Amino acid sequence: MYITRRERFSASHKLYNDELQDHENEKLFGKCFNLHGHNYELFVTVTGKINPISGFIIDLKNLKKVIHERIINKIDHNDINNVDFMKNKISTTENLCIGIWNELENPIEILGGKLHKIKLNETENNSFEYFGKINNYV
Ligand code: NI
Repeated sequence: MYITRRERFSASHKLYNDELQDHENEKLFGKCFNLHGHNYELFVTVTGKINPISGFIIDLKNLKKVIHERIINKIDHNDINNVDFMKNKISTTENLCIGIWNELENPIEILGGKLHKIKLNETENNSFEYFGKINNYV
């Protein structure tokens, strides 16, 4: 069984690689080199065994709390480039999925669940899914 919690946040970012010159960043990232924002939709999917005492795989109140503490409170109405778990990373949605996965994996395990998937909708048309590291692919 899979349980999914949805959260929303609004955040700004600009795409740049520290190792490139401004004109190279501009060429590579185009308009995304300018500071701009998105209304993101985050889906956190958890699996695991049903706890015989509660009947839950994970208590959704606790899952919500962990997502807010580790992700939403840090990133909502903020610049993604300044969020602790995104420091020194290019703030693409690919890297954001991995950053969110790494923030949530352990706390979810402590709550008795197992993180299965992070999905981020960046726009209506662009959606990203991460299932943890599989072989040599991210
Ligand atoms: Ni963008």
